[in-house]
Amino acid sequence: MCKGSPAHVAIIMDGNGRWGKKRGISRSEGHYAGSKRMEEIIDASIELGINVLTLYAFSSENWSRPHDEVKYLMDLPVRFFHKKLPEFMKRNIQIRISGNLTPVPGKTREVLEKAVTSTANNTGMIVNFAFNYGGRGDIVHAAKMLMEEVRNGKISEEDITEKKLQQCLYTGDLPSPDMVIRTGGERRLSNFLLWQSAESELYFSDVHFPDFTGEMFAKAIGQQLGKRYLSG
Ligand code: IPE
Ligand code: IPE
Ligand code: MG
Repeated sequence: MCKGSPAHVAIIMDGNGRWGKKRGISRSEGHYAGSKRMEEIIDASIELGINVLTLYAFSSENWSRPHDEVKYLMDLPVRFFHKKLPEFMKRNIQIRISGNLTPVPGKTREVLEKAVTSTANNTGMIVNFAFNYGGRGDIVHAAKMLMEEVRNGKISEEDITEKKLQQCLYTGDLPSPDMVIRTGGERRLSNFLLWQSAESELYFSDVHFPDFTGEMFAKAIGQQLGKRYLSG
């Protein structure tokens, strides 16, 4: 019998900047091409029956990039959800955000929060965007939440277990990823899902994310797609 798709796949979508550079265009154009490819990977994930797809879109370390590039990366979700939110509603997709939205510019934060609240009752695939996310920060944030609960008398020290801490992470009730994929040739986690990936299979591809097709994605998880996707 054919093995089914993993329940939760997480992707470090790396290589956008180099993809642009290789073509003599800007890094930002590379990010745009990456966002188009991301649409294709979401479509492929639905076809493959994945329950949760986590996409690393902006790390807590990415603020140190040049101002214009950060600005572009902050504007990208605004464009993306303007186009895709009605479709996500129609396709019963639930959007989640993992990360600290407090320092994110107002317009972007509003769009991300709207995507989460308006899809909260959808029961289909979950697409979880890791945005201003860092694994160490995630654990610190969880530790502070636990401390608050102890201080309020809601829990006592003995109640702090691995399970309890895990529930306080930005990923909350989501299952841990079965597989973490990194495109772009680097073989590191770059502060992604440090706690959650403790038992995940790691898959590295040398292909820059804007060239990472639905078929490549399906192959990474040991599956095959029934149809070919062409992203615009
Ligand atoms: C990953 O691509 C996307 C983000 C960090 C937002 P990069 O921008 O890191 O691309 P490379 O690694 O420089 O090619
Ligand atoms: C990881 O890629 C972050 C995202 C894909 C959003 P980076 O390019 O930022 O990571 P490093 O700098 O190679 O560690
Ligand atoms: Mg990179």
